[in-house]
Amino acid sequence: MNLALKLVPLLSCITTWSSVLALIPIIGQYYPNEQAALWQLRDSVGSSNLYSNWTGPPCMNNQSRWGGIACSNGHVVHLVLDGIRLMGSLPPAFLNNLTLLTKLSMRNNSISGPLPNLGNLVGLEYVFLSRNLFTGSIPFDYVQLQSLKEIELQENYLQGEIPPFDQQSLIAFNVSYNSLEGPIPQTDVLRGFPESSYLHNSGLCGNPIKKQCPVPPAPSPSPSHSGKKSSFETRDLVFIISVSVLVPCLVIVVFLWYYKRRHRKETAKNSELGETAIELETKKMNASQRALDPERTAELEFFEKSIPAFDLDDLLRASAEVMGKGKLSTTYKASLESGLVVSVKRVKDMNGLSNKEFIQQMQLLGKLRHENLVQIISFYNSKQEKLIIYEFVPSANLFELLHENRGSARIPLNWGIRLSIIKDIAMGMNFLHQSLPNHKVPHANLKSSNVLVLRQTQNYHSKITDYGYYPLLSSRRSLEKLAVSRSPEFCEGKKLTNKADVYCFGIMLLEIITGRIPGDEISWGDEEKAEDLSEWVKVVVNNDWSTDILDVEILGTKEAHDEMLKLTNLALECTAAAPEKRPKMTDVLRRIEEIEQRKSDNG
Ligand SMILES: *[C@@H]1O[C@H](CO)[C@@H](O)[C@H](O)[C@H]1NC(C)=O
Ligand SMILES: *[C@@H]1O[C@H](CO)[C@@H](O)[C@H](O)[C@H]1NC(C)=O
Ligand SMILES: *[C@@H]1O[C@H](CO)[C@@H](O)[C@H](O)[C@H]1NC(C)=O
Ligand SMILES: *[C@@H]1O[C@H](CO)[C@@H](O)[C@H](O)[C@H]1NC(C)=O
Ligand SMILES: *[C@@H]1O[C@H](CO)[C@@H](O)[C@H](O)[C@H]1NC(C)=O
Repeated sequence: MNLALKLVPLLSCITTWSSVLALIPIIGQYYPNEQAALWQLRDSVGSSNLYSNWTGPPCMNNQSRWGGIACSNGHVVHLVLDGIRLMGSLPPAFLNNLTLLTKLSMRNNSISGPLPNLGNLVGLEYVFLSRNLFTGSIPFDYVQLQSLKEIELQENYLQGEIPPFDQQSLIAFNVSYNSLEGPIPQTDVLRGFPESSYLHNSGLCGNPIKKQCPVPPAPSPSPSHSGKKSSFETRDLVFIISVSVLVPCLVIVVFLWYYKRRHRKETAKNSELGETAIELETKKMNASQRALDPERTAELEFFEKSIPAFDLDDLLRASAEVMGKGKLSTTYKASLESGLVVSVKRVKDMNGLSNKEFIQQMQLLGKLRHENLVQIISFYNSKQEKLIIYEFVPSANLFELLHENRGSARIPLNWGIRLSIIKDIAMGMNFLHQSLPNHKVPHANLKSSNVLVLRQTQNYHSKITDYGYYPLLSSRRSLEKLAVSRSPEFCEGKKLTNKADVYCFGIMLLEIITGRIPGDEISWGDEEKAEDLSEWVKVVVNNDWSTDILDVEILGTKEAHDEMLKLTNLALECTAAAPEKRPKMTDVLRRIEEIEQRKSDNG
């Protein structure tokens, strides 16, 4: 059969597995420190755009391989990440190693926390950080950036005074729409900018804004003429009186505040879980949407008698830590006072659902038991808030194992482990397909970040999670957040079947074999681009079998090349454009078991 014919229709579907396939030869010089710094950035303010695109070295000589950067002689010189929904705060010192940076631009995101430290970036010319959620003051050492030409800090939440910028190179400056205060330093440079550079900072005064700074009060004449000693005595007296009046007041205020807070906590069930979540959501969101519904309509429901039950209040009192933020949900690790640890998902996009639909689906999923599925323990359902409570698996996800820390600090993932992970996933998927025969797409969201890999000394055990969401989502917009939306049939607007899961499985097989990240749609600001698959198709089709596609970490395991080839072929069958040409999940599992069997017979 002609592989080309099978694969070509994929080209028309822009949201497919593009970067698994971008087999760009890696040549030229690059600087791993710079790569590490950018990965640090990606992991802190993460955006799926960056995950799918920032792999391998950032630069090849003067050419950039990553979106959002520009390179010169292998060094990163521009970092431009405008309007791509970056969230969270910047890692403290990540820019220190981008020593040749001349342009830093992260306009129009949701970055919170303090402004970055730019101390040693002597070549920096452009700093654009407007329209974010930055807080704190403008670092004083920005006045030492000798090459600075333009700086935009408007539309943040900055406080404090403006440092005395006086670089002659500075030709554009904007700090409007913040909460800055104090006099505008009267340097030649700062006086030269228009009023609109400073607007909407209620506490600012002085030229060029038309608001006079208050005249500092003239030192009041000493009330006593009997010399310094007496004046000290008066002051001491004033001090003692103030202290004796203020301290009791303060104690009362603090007590009242504490009492009120406690009281509110008890009555309104304002939880640590809620609060942590609130801290982490962007400040722009409406607070009322985020709080847990006080008039809750349902309590937690449990599926497993063996797990000690806890109630919603226990959960709300638990300390919660964000483990991950996906398109559909945010996942917390919640440690209950009883010592029990669970994983809690707050799911979005399911609020259009009737209570009955949600509860029925949860009860169905809650009954499933398989060693390769992350078990659902319980759920909470109200109009505003839906929580799904899973067993906590102390693990890394497959995405992290495959793609993170590439470079010096990495522990390679060898072929034996990869094969065992593949088999575990196939077993979990096969079980789901057997257990949910009436579901159109039983899993619907199979991707490497939804595979949790538990390490038990030398053995690895994998469990899949986030299954069964398909019936819970109604609009195409929400369905687009699921992994099955990358399947050709979804792109073409056709009906989905369980073969869409098989497609996702095939993509993940390729990801495990090649070590490349399947592309999300890649969007930089407004412009949306799809990568060209032809490179890959050519390699696979013309060279029959080429070890070029293998992840370098498994390339050396020559004795297993035959298995890798067989699995690659299986992956290509699973990703066939026509769903009916893809094998069933049971057949997929059988073939993987055969490959594994032969391996143990030979070895
Ligand atoms: C890269 O560009 C710089 C000038 O920007 C030039 O001097 C250098 O030769 C270029 N290097 C390569 C490998 O093209
Ligand atoms: C990243 O995206 C840019 C721009 O869209 C593209 O040119 C580049 O090839 C991509 N790189 C990788 C490694 O996917
Ligand atoms: C800001 O970014 C969002 C996407 O995050 C985009 O929709 C919007 O148009 C951008 N606004 C401006 C003024 O660039
Ligand atoms: C910068 O590079 C040095 C090695 O030169 C490394 O030790 C350090 O951790 C890096 N800093 C950051 C913030 O990545
Ligand atoms: C500064 O930014 C504000 C808000 O974006 C804008 O209205 C104003 O025109 C800008 N002023 C200058 C001088 O760029």
